[in-house]
Amino acid sequence: MKGKFITFEGAEGSGKSTQAALVSEYLKSKKMPVMLLREPGGVKISENIRKLLLDVNNTGMGDECETLLYMAARAQMVKEVLEPQLKSGNIIVCDRFLDSTLAYQGYGNGIDIKTIEQLGVFATKGLAPDLTILFDIQPEKGLSRTGLKKDRIESRSLEYHHRVRNGYLDLSKKYPARIKVIEVDGPQEEIFKKVKLYIDALLGL
Ligand code: TMP
Repeated sequence: MKGKFITFEGAEGSGKSTQAALVSEYLKSKKMPVMLLREPGGVKISENIRKLLLDVNNTGMGDECETLLYMAARAQMVKEVLEPQLKSGNIIVCDRFLDSTLAYQGYGNGIDIKTIEQLGVFATKGLAPDLTILFDIQPEKGLSRTGLKKDRIESRSLEYHHRVRNGYLDLSKKYPARIKVIEVDGPQEEIFKKVKLYIDALLGL
């Protein structure tokens, strides 16, 4: 692949979407060919799957169905934009990717990690991020930063969100060269300065 693939991960209310947007603006200001995507979503079919996944009325959704729907949304986004854009040399900044499924459905719901990894290879065609920035925040603090109207995943118990956070931290220990952890503990400009160091190092800026 000629392009670069950067993902942003973290629990609810970690501010990762704001940081992903700031990075995208920063790279545009440097005249770099950048595209900002989010998961689940990014393309029409995947945005439709997102609605199903986050709808609080879908109370009966099983963990297997949930895992497969996240993977289905991902497979479509990879095929429609990620793979072609990376092939043509663009930089993709993606708000969440496969690590989210490992953390939320694997560590959070208890779906077998090996199974998620295998499904992941199928859905992503083996494409993996060059750099992942993980925004770490205490679930209590993060959840208090999300709006009052919680979606299907945000509404889960505090214990669930602790499992997700610990899952992410485990993943960062497993893949230290790829996953860089930033503690969410200051103003967004200060956090962006830390993010920028990793982005500049990856892209040689
Ligand atoms: P967002 O709030 O960051 O836009 O993400 C949507 C929600 O979906 C969030 O609660 C995390 C969850 N999610 C998973 O559970 N598994 C996944 O694979 C992805 C991409 C997101």
